Amino acid sequence: MPEIDVLDAIHSTRAQRYLKPDPIPEETLWELLDAAVRGPTGGNNQGWGWIVIRDPAIKREIAHVYEDRLKRAYGYERVSDEALGAARITRGGVLEGDTGIDARNRRGVIHLAEHFAEAPVIVAPVLTEAGLAEDTRHAGAGLGASIYGAVQNLMLAARAHGLGSVFTWRLEEGSGFNELLGLPEAARVMCLIPLGELARGSFTQPRRRPLAEVVHWDRWGERRERG
Ligand SMILES: Cc1cc2nc3c(=O)[nH]c(=O)nc-3n(C[C@H](O)[C@H](O)[C@H](O)COP(=O)(O)O)c2cc1C
Repeated sequence: MPEIDVLDAIHSTRAQRYLKPDPIPEETLWELLDAAVRGPTGGNNQGWGWIVIRDPAIKREIAHVYEDRLKRAYGYERVSDEALGAARITRGGVLEGDTGIDARNRRGVIHLAEHFAEAPVIVAPVLTEAGLAEDTRHAGAGLGASIYGAVQNLMLAARAHGLGSVFTWRLEEGSGFNELLGLPEAARVMCLIPLGELARGSFTQPRRRPLAEVVHWDRWGERRERG
């Protein structure tokens, strides 16, 4: 079992979109999933399943859907690296800087979309009854609350094992994932997590808006500088 301080892991887990195709040992995958399922669920109902996708044909199908969705969401087309530096793949509203996706990361987003199937493993976290909740008060944020904490556990455990990961989510209706993965009708894939060793980059601290700007004390708007 690798050792890394939990706060060090948190401060060095960021979206890693350049992943090597080298296989991940099965025991490592068990350890990542063992960490994932320690995450919280409402009433501890654990109404989930975790699909570990290694089959190249299934990965290719998923990658195809993913790239198509990303293109539709961001309206990007394949362009040269130079053109990409100047282009925006976002459709308005997303700023560059501490928020939004800067040029380097844009390149990463597109690289991932074009190489999605090359990750040795894609984990698909599934909520088994999410489909039933879509028309109820449990839809929306509440729906994901019973799995995304566990997904973050998975990503932190991956970091501890020296593996990169990235949270991806292009799963609007009609993705065909239920058929592709043999899921029951009421089940939903809640995100897709490609995993692999880093082909580029390193485990550095994610950049965020200044803490004092986003932390409010007792009431909204009451801010302090950190001592
Ligand atoms: C709801 C959600 C959807 C996301 N979808 C994608 C995606 O489809 N593709 C991708 O490359 N990254 C995706 N991300 C990753 C974000 O872009 C990433 O977490 C953010 O840019 C911060 O990256 P950093 O931790 O490296 O700073 C998604 C993250 C969230 C929370």
